[in-house]
Amino acid sequence: MTKKKKLFTREEFEKFRLNSAKGMVADKKLQDDVIDVLVRADKYNWIHQATWMGEPLLNLPQDMFAIQEIIFATKPKYIIEIGVAWGGGLLFHSTLLKAWGGEKVLGIDIYMPDDLKKRIMSHGEVSEKIELINASSIEKNTVEKVEEIIGDCRDVLVILDSHHTHEHVIQELNLYSPLVGEGQYIVCGDTIVDFIPEQEHRDRPWGPGNNPMTALQQFLSENDRFEVDKEIENKLLFTCNPSGFIKCVKNY
Ligand SMILES: C[S@@+](CC[C@H](N)C(=O)[O-])C[C@H]1O[C@@H](n2cnc3c(N)ncnc32)[C@H](O)[C@@H]1O
Repeated sequence: MTKKKKLFTREEFEKFRLNSAKGMVADKKLQDDVIDVLVRADKYNWIHQATWMGEPLLNLPQDMFAIQEIIFATKPKYIIEIGVAWGGGLLFHSTLLKAWGGEKVLGIDIYMPDDLKKRIMSHGEVSEKIELINASSIEKNTVEKVEEIIGDCRDVLVILDSHHTHEHVIQELNLYSPLVGEGQYIVCGDTIVDFIPEQEHRDRPWGPGNNPMTALQQFLSENDRFEVDKEIENKLLFTCNPSGFIKCVKNY
């Protein structure tokens, strides 16, 4: 007689999933291998390979999936993405905001040629949710424009993915964190830079010791409104944002 397979309840499966993720985190060899693969794959620009609605998005699909889970769980009315590049990420966020309700996705980038704007705004109802701000994120006018759009609303998800020096990211964290209310998130992108040795194929003003991770550490040491959500990253295994998913735990 064949043995009847025990089926999980939804609650049991949740516990099983969380425990498995903790196991992955505790597996030092696995974690070391992940960093090794990330460093080696970065030479081939692995993080540039995904697209959304045909437009490149410069992030690991794992991290985009984590953002999808955050958006579903927290239902932000506004999503602010700082650093748009080719627009795939912005279209991804807008697709989800459109599906689950929400007002606008703001895309801020210092460099936005007209053909890029045209492509981003060519996707019907998904594009209608998008507002592009072609300016530096740390300019006073840019922050004022964002404040004008979101008003008093603090159901806001902020994704920082622009210039990855310590100085720039700490300014972004200080300027945009007041817009995020309790229960909502900031995603501080590319904290992984702290773990990746200087790369020869890309000449960048950031690197180990001067990057989003060092800025985030300073921000968290000076600010008690945000905590790192480890549960999100534990299950990702591959992420460019270690400790970079931070949750607002109290309003001003
Ligand atoms: C890593 S890419 C963004 C990738 C994008 N988030 C995605 O998922 O595809 C970084 C972008 O930041 C922009 N950037 C650099 N300095 C900036 C600044 N001061 N303000 C706003 N954007 C900036 C660059 O022009 C570039 O497009």
